[in-house]
Amino acid sequence: MKAIVFTSNTGSTAEYARILEQKTGIKAYDLKTAEKTLAQGDEIVYLGWLMAGLINGYNRARRLFDVKAVGAVGISAKGVLRDEIVKNNNIPSGVELFELQGAYYPQKLKGLHKLLMKIVAKSIVKSLRGKALPTDEDLEMINVLENGGSFISEQRAEAFADYIVRAQVANYEE
Ligand SMILES: Cc1cc2nc3c(=O)[nH]c(=O)nc-3n(C[C@H](O)[C@H](O)[C@H](O)COP(=O)(O)O)c2cc1C
Repeated sequence: MKAIVFTSNTGSTAEYARILEQKTGIKAYDLKTAEKTLAQGDEIVYLGWLMAGLINGYNRARRLFDVKAVGAVGISAKGVLRDEIVKNNNIPSGVELFELQGAYYPQKLKGLHKLLMKIVAKSIVKSLRGKALPTDEDLEMINVLENGGSFISEQRAEAFADYIVRAQVANYEE
């Protein structure tokens, strides 16, 4: 594995890329820097933020590099959107998908992104508040969507970090 490559808008995907860099020793680059630094066809893992179900930058990354695994950073909890993400982004069956729950930093959003996320946040909060018995996770989500906040943790990145380390070991053994 040559590198961890990412695209981030408000910084949470970059935070996950840094966590993975620290845990695996593989260098992280944003996509623009990677284009200037890496060679075409290099083996990478790619992380992008989710926008309306699409992993930002994934199509470009896979035209340029050999993307072995992909991380989707969204506000939704792991598992909720998995099948949709695979389908919408045409992720091939040999490419592993890791869902990473990100953050909502409303003060960092601008223009249309800010407006769209505000509308989405409001509608999710409305449906969660309508639940007869909201779970602790529901209440945490309401709080983050109303006030901004982060779900980013090292623990949420663990499976992805393990994957990268295992891929490195397999490369050495070949
Ligand atoms: C316009 C817009 C659309 C979004 N669509 C989704 C989505 O479809 N699914 C999801 O889980 N999160 C969605 N999000 C939330 C972001 O993916 C989330 O805040 C992520 O952590 C942002 O990453 P970044 O800080 O690297 O930009 C959306 C955010 C914006 C602004």
